Amino acid sequence: MIVSPSLLSCDFANIQRDVEMLNNSKADWIHIDVMDGVFVPNISFGFPVLSAVRKHTNKVLDVHLMIEDADPYLLEFKKAGADILTVHYEACTHLHRTIQAIKELGMKAGIAINPHTPVSALKHMFSSVDLVLIMSVNPGFGGQKFIPETLEKVAELNSIKQHLGLDFIIEVDGGVNIENAPLLQQAGANALVAGSFVFNSTDPKETIKQLNEV
Ligand code: DX5
Ligand code: ZN
Repeated sequence: MIVSPSLLSCDFANIQRDVEMLNNSKADWIHIDVMDGVFVPNISFGFPVLSAVRKHTNKVLDVHLMIEDADPYLLEFKKAGADILTVHYEACTHLHRTIQAIKELGMKAGIAINPHTPVSALKHMFSSVDLVLIMSVNPGFGGQKFIPETLEKVAELNSIKQHLGLDFIIEVDGGVNIENAPLLQQAGANALVAGSFVFNSTDPKETIKQLNEV
């Protein structure tokens, strides 16, 4: 299982320390949540923080954009060090164009869907993406409760993926913990984002290891 700890739950006064911890852990990726206060009711951080993190890690930077109209900023995200750039289905009018542009810039392209958005909404995008991110909470905040219907969505997406013979990554984000991780794995998830569960635990490295081994 790919584990992508979310920096949203780190100690912002000690980002470098927390990134070093992740560097020494079994985390495969580092999840970076960018929020604009428009698409979601919260503002997190942007390019300067992303660039600063990039300087301190070789891990894959898994950037989750919760912003309206990402198109003007795609190149800036590449320059700041994003390896995977995921945009929201609900925030993109010309989604196919956006995904193509992300790939042309040399990044992996992902699409995130909110809890209310059906998997079938991506029917005409499956063959174009490297990753589908299923939100298991309403985006905007860390520490929320996992929405159980997510399991059905992951299973549905996985069965479409198998049926079409595609190999995009299925990532799940929100309220992930050691109880639901095995269920998500069985349903077909390949990557798990975990923020508060990792950073609020007494031994974050051990918590990451446990998620990694589900
Ligand atoms: C929520 C973000 C998540 C968040 C997850 O909008 O997309 O990545 O950091 O935090 P937890 O794991 O605490 O739900
Ligand atoms: Zn996220």
